[in-house]
Amino acid sequence: MIRIGTLQLDVLEVSGIKRGFGFGANRLEVLKGVDLSLDKGELVALMGPSGCGKSTLLNIIGGLLKADSGNIKINLRPSLNYGTKPPNQVIDVRRRGVGWIFQDFHLLDHITSLENVILSLELAGVGSREAEQRAIMAMKKVDLEDRMMFMPNELSGGQQQRVAVARAIAGSRPILLADEPTGNLDVKAGESIISLFKELCSDKQNPISVLMVTHDPILASKADRMLLMRDGITAASDIRSAWGESLEGQT
Ligand SMILES: Nc1ncnc2c1ncn2[C@@H]1O[C@H](COP(=O)(O)OP(=O)(O)OP(=O)(O)O)[C@@H](O)[C@H]1O
Ligand SMILES: [Mg+2]
Repeated sequence: MIRIGTLQLDVLEVSGIKRGFGFGANRLEVLKGVDLSLDKGELVALMGPSGCGKSTLLNIIGGLLKADSGNIKINLRPSLNYGTKPPNQVIDVRRRGVGWIFQDFHLLDHITSLENVILSLELAGVGSREAEQRAIMAMKKVDLEDRMMFMPNELSGGQQQRVAVARAIAGSRPILLADEPTGNLDVKAGESIISLFKELCSDKQNPISVLMVTHDPILASKADRMLLMRDGITAASDIRSAWGESLEGQT
């Protein structure tokens, strides 16, 4: 829900997003009017039963999928306004607006961890020299200064996910979308990723905002706020109802 009065702080405003799949009798309405907002520096956990539409929503916010109706605004200068635009018309959203973290890291195996970060910057149009400097800064931020020359398969799962976080923040995008970022990690590594998110959100100079899908209620409870997706919409939730309802939906 967009909170009138704190509008100027919202880095992301999502309103009335609807999205279905299929036609006729096979039509499935997945998102039925999602409203949410993210404040600058906020870590928000999104929970909900398997198949309820969490990844679909993230894909729309991330400019990888278009909604049937509704609006999304990222408050940059100039602001990004989209929602129903197809992916090829929201290149700016992916370039300037949102970074991604996935469950399975998505690192390239044959180049070093630092080169993974450099490459993503170069693909976004940053010159080689600046890309290297920014990548090194990002690797320092995620506390991997001493692992920059390691290949991904020489790192633990938690460290690989930190490289993915470095890659996502190196481009200075204000929003990080994380789809089950701790799904492949043990409890300790998962907790350390959430602590890293919190650190990056409270960075004094350049705070990011994180929208994180998780099935883990303990990790979700460490977020600033929890949202539960159910019946095609999202609503504020406390830990007890998020835990109970998401479990019922899954088993
Ligand atoms: N491209 C597509 N074509 C048809 N149906 C789709 C497509 N993408 C998603 N769906 C359907 O939309 C619904 C929501 O899927 P989504 O992946 O968003 O769920 P989720 O909440 O992320 O689930 P999980 O927790 O298992 O990852 C599912 O019923 C899925 O089958
Ligand atoms: Mg999903």
